[in-house]
Amino acid sequence: MTEQKYEIGMIGLGVMGRNLVLNIGDHGYSVSGYDKDITKVQELQTEVGSRTINAAQSLDEFVSVLSTPRAIMMLVPAGKIVDTVIHELIPHLEKGDLIIDAGNSHFKDTDLRAKSLAEKGILYMGVGISGGEEGARHGPSLMPGGPKEAYERVRPIFEAVAAHVDGVPCVLYLGPGSAGHYVKMVHNGIEYGLMQLIAESYDLMKRGLALSDAELSIIYGNWNENLLNAYLIEITSRIFAQVDEQTGKRLIDEILDEAKQKGTGMWTSQDAMDIQVPTPVIDAAVVARNLSAMKSERESASKNIKVRATRFKGNRDAILNQLKSAMYASMIITYAQGMSQLHAASKVYEYSLNLEDVARIWRGGCIIRAALLENIQAAYHARPDLPNLLNDSSLGKAVMARQKDLRKVVGLAVKLGIPIPCLMASLAYFDGYRNAWLPANLIQAQRDDFGAHTYERVDAKGVFHTHWE
Ligand code: 6PG
Repeated sequence: MTEQKYEIGMIGLGVMGRNLVLNIGDHGYSVSGYDKDITKVQELQTEVGSRTINAAQSLDEFVSVLSTPRAIMMLVPAGKIVDTVIHELIPHLEKGDLIIDAGNSHFKDTDLRAKSLAEKGILYMGVGISGGEEGARHGPSLMPGGPKEAYERVRPIFEAVAAHVDGVPCVLYLGPGSAGHYVKMVHNGIEYGLMQLIAESYDLMKRGLALSDAELSIIYGNWNENLLNAYLIEITSRIFAQVDEQTGKRLIDEILDEAKQKGTGMWTSQDAMDIQVPTPVIDAAVVARNLSAMKSERESASKNIKVRATRFKGNRDAILNQLKSAMYASMIITYAQGMSQLHAASKVYEYSLNLEDVARIWRGGCIIRAALLENIQAAYHARPDLPNLLNDSSLGKAVMARQKDLRKVVGLAVKLGIPIPCLMASLAYFDGYRNAWLPANLIQAQRDDFGAHTYERVDAKGVFHTHWE
């Protein structure tokens, strides 16, 4: 009798890892799972059913049952743990084995790990996975990067377990090195932007227009039915309907207004700054989370800094329509910023990203899936090297048609004193991007005046310096 060999391994049997193992098993692939925490191994054991799953009791057993060359996936928290797992695995591995980091690792760490493992003849892939617990179990969006030949080895499994849209799996090879983790990072940056935009619309409707949670649930539900169809809008509608079992009130009103973060949104902003791509909606969303976390400081400030509240007077239905329209424009602008970051990063880090592919694999399974991604995919299909989605005629027109509404909504929030950093950032970006002239000539003059940094002229080539009076 030949001993059963398993096609792929999974280290880390937290909810994501366990669900992905079950998903792999559901699709007829054999998989071995291991976790240092033996209770997690036991939990997996209870769910094996008729699937070909091995719940390994030790790292030795885990590695020895894998078919060679081995393919080992890790789903462990980003950071030091990833290095620890790799370190413990290395003595068990042979040349040609493949390690896949499917967590939210920083792309620069992925590059370093890939380089040091390549020296040992071990292949390394960084794969972004989006979709949360539900996605891991029933079909996530997968963003693989690393050596192409390594991807080819796991491609059938990845295609089987990924979400499918119109029969097409939401996974495509994205590029070498850390391409997969970079794309996942920007996915999360866009996720931050969209979440904050939705939170701002909630604030405007709740505090500004005095709508109830029940009304909000209906409005988000309606938004999700047409133009604003998006997973994040859909869950928002459900969230406003949720009743708290303890108090019988709507749960949303019992939740503390302090947003946590694991850092991927901040990394997106940080790298956008490094490669000098403006992503103000994402930046503002990160800042909004940081400001929300300063709860006690905000509480004392609210006692000391009092601004008289202006009440909304006007046609509620009209402003609701404008808000919906402003949200659509801002969502396009948010994707435009994330995609323009990918466009630039692809050159800087030599990923050779195909942005049509990126839009395609985000259409299903992931947190930022939205009907809008069909239009985004079409835009890159028409112009693969499109530097910014605002230059696409259809998306550009869609924003143009709604810019007045965005201005009205921003104006109203300013009047009411409701903070809307991402809606404002969307509008300012739109106005900045569409202007052939910006007041940066003054910045240059100031730089030359105080630091002799020189400037260029509109009427002659070369660099100039003036002894400013
Ligand atoms: C996804 C999510 C997932 C995770 C975020 C949460 O695509 O499935 O983005 O990766 O929920 O990392 O991030 P924060 O803790 O930073 O909000």
